[in-house]
Amino acid sequence: MASRRHPPISATTRLTAVFGDPVEHSMSPLMHNAAYEALGLDRRYVAFHVTAEMLIAALRGVAALGILGVNLTVPHKERAMRAMDEVSSEARMLGAINCVVNRRGRLIGDNTDARGFERDLRALNVGVSGQAVLMAGAGGAAAAAALAMTRLGARTVVIANRTSERARRLARRMSRITGGRTDFRWRALDALIDPDLLGRVACVINATSMGLTTRRFAPLDYSATPYDCVFYDMLYSRAPTPFIQGAMRAGRRAADGAGMLAEQGDLAFRLFNGVAAPPGLMRRTLMRALGRG
Ligand code: ATR
Repeated sequence: MASRRHPPISATTRLTAVFGDPVEHSMSPLMHNAAYEALGLDRRYVAFHVTAEMLIAALRGVAALGILGVNLTVPHKERAMRAMDEVSSEARMLGAINCVVNRRGRLIGDNTDARGFERDLRALNVGVSGQAVLMAGAGGAAAAAALAMTRLGARTVVIANRTSERARRLARRMSRITGGRTDFRWRALDALIDPDLLGRVACVINATSMGLTTRRFAPLDYSATPYDCVFYDMLYSRAPTPFIQGAMRAGRRAADGAGMLAEQGDLAFRLFNGVAAPPGLMRRTLMRALGRG
């Protein structure tokens, strides 16, 4: 329902957007437009299907058309780096950009993955301070999760990955970036069935695409974890992901990445518009669209 205060699209309407390939499934337009409507701002958020070959041209278009800011999703997060006039230290640390802010024609690249993840874990009251965490995955999502774990005070993070060499590289890089505050270790995916390790972790994170690109998650001994261990899937979907299903069957607390997406929506909204979205509105809008209340 259109709010009476929300101006119709006119010659003064300003745009924000998401660029992705594919992009049709994006929930961001829904969340951002709900906030524009609630605030009565003469702005709209749209999704552009931008292929990898057209990314640089599309980003030039952001400056040319006065688009206020854009979110970047698959496959643009790394490639966008070279088209930026400035890159935040966080985006540089993570080697990827998911938010581009247009500041008077200058494109500023930022990354809200780690902050969004950290905020959702705080909202869920998941405490990892002084504890050990097991994480599956060693790509961009895993790097963001690793950074968030250090900020939340995790003592040890075990990075388990199909390609263990990639886990080793990420563990080394994160140790360097975080100045040794967290002990980063690496393993192959057999860590997920190691009872000694599982018996002492406070949280298990899925930062792989298993469950999205595959129907199953890797073998994981849920019942070997402490009863209060929390399982967090950085992926999200309407129905519980395979990773979450296993945790639920074992009676463990579980959350998927929908909350992280909502927190990132809030962060991006503030970056693009210079004002905050109404508290909790983006989260409520997203959860309703996912059939969760
Ligand atoms: P993102 O930037 O979203 O993290 P990515 O860099 O492509 O994406 O990383 C995907 C992660 O999922 C990797 O850890 C990958 O393992 P590899 O490094 O061995 O490729 C993991 N992954 C994807 N499909 C997988 C599968 N079928 N089994 C196990 N791990 C998988």
